[in-house]
Amino acid sequence: MNIVLLGPPGAGKGTQARLLVDERGMTQLSTGDMLREARQSGTEMGRRVADVMDRGDLVTDEIVVGLIEEKLEADPGGDFIFDGFPRTLAQADALADLLDRRGLRLDAVIEMQVDDEALVRRISGRFTCASCGAVYHDETKQPRKAGVCDVCGGTEFKRRADDNPEALRTRLMEYYKKTSPLIGYYHAKGRLVRIDALAPIPEVAERVRDIVEAPRAALDEPAHSL
Ligand code: AP5
Repeated sequence: MNIVLLGPPGAGKGTQARLLVDERGMTQLSTGDMLREARQSGTEMGRRVADVMDRGDLVTDEIVVGLIEEKLEADPGGDFIFDGFPRTLAQADALADLLDRRGLRLDAVIEMQVDDEALVRRISGRFTCASCGAVYHDETKQPRKAGVCDVCGGTEFKRRADDNPEALRTRLMEYYKKTSPLIGYYHAKGRLVRIDALAPIPEVAERVRDIVEAPRAALDEPAHSL
């Protein structure tokens, strides 16, 4: 099963992807995480994308398609969660081609629907474990023991440089201009499944699980909403 999690910044793509990794052993391919890793390790590419990311603009298609291709080379088996990729029509075409060449298919594209007001609240309260990247929120998801990561026991937490009001405005504009056309693209291909991602995390997880567990034939029906 290969799926795309499609949604604006703060829709909960990373949160749901991590749950699928833990529960089902799927492989999360987050281009945002890959780019942040490249920045942290100080590669030439990481330096080139730093300003673009901090502003909230999209990195070039060439760079992100290259990153995904490298991961698919390293792990040809499938069972992928594409998190934050594709984000443009050119990236969607490239993904179709990359999967096709490996005899893989995209089973479902889950559009996570959330209103802008909730996105601002989610992004402004987000923090992550500095060691393992587990995602938390000031109001909705605090670690069980204050100051200690539930997953790895780490005690250092950080906030993202692009989680500020100005960059968030740009990220949202980029989403509506360049990424939202993918909703029509995947609907036309019969791959789109919409979910209400405004609900609490466990309920959203339940909806995602229903899709991942649905028989392939059900996902091949033309219009879905689970
Ligand atoms: P990326 O890292 O992909 O960021 P994003 O798409 O803006 O998404 P986020 O990570 O902000 O949000 P999310 O949907 O994963 O939400 P999360 O689960 O964390 O990309 C960063 C940058 O990299 C881009 O701006 C761009 O520059 C570049 N980039 C990346 N991919 C690219 C590509 N393909 N092409 C070009 N450029 C690319 O949740 C957010 C918060 O809400 C958390 O605190 C969480 O605890 C909370 N939360 C989650 N779900 C719920 C819920 N149901 N109820 C209440 N709270 C919730």
